Amino acid sequence: MKNLELKSIIAECQLEELSQEEQHLVKRAIEATNRSYAPYSKFHVGAALLLNNGVVVIGCNQENAAYPAGICAERTALFAAGAQYPDVPVKTLAIAARTSNGELQEEPVSPCGICRQVIIETETRFNQQVRILLYGRNKIYTIDGIGSLMPLSFTEF
Ligand code: THU
Repeated sequence: MKNLELKSIIAECQLEELSQEEQHLVKRAIEATNRSYAPYSKFHVGAALLLNNGVVVIGCNQENAAYPAGICAERTALFAAGAQYPDVPVKTLAIAARTSNGELQEEPVSPCGICRQVIIETETRFNQQVRILLYGRNKIYTIDGIGSLMPLSFTEF
């Protein structure tokens, strides 16, 4: 038997180290946390994505008393972009979160498995990697392509 070693590359930096464009995108994701509807979890997530045409689309989590009906910030943004700009690839996706006391998360917030699957589909659909920026007050993780967060992913059948 042989082991398969999988490699993920995740870079760590501070906000000021990002390009102006990416700093702006992270700030839009932070702002989007204020629009989140999360009366149940009280965990307010914001996402902002930059399209190839320069347009920024935001999303935030939307919860519901029928819990499974709720949706994450990332998918809200990705599906809104898909609806409004179906032919434009997604270049970068920034994610931030805060708790109900208003404090932004100290550590970077990572997308859930379902959102990772949707990011994979976004990449395959447009044949372009999505750069992912995970914001935390202490540090930001930057990841070039969902492959580093979801190896051996399911893409076709
Ligand atoms: N949530 C997101 O919006 N994005 C993530 O990456 C993780 C979780 C939402 C779903 C739910 O409304 C709340 O955060 C708590 O799980």
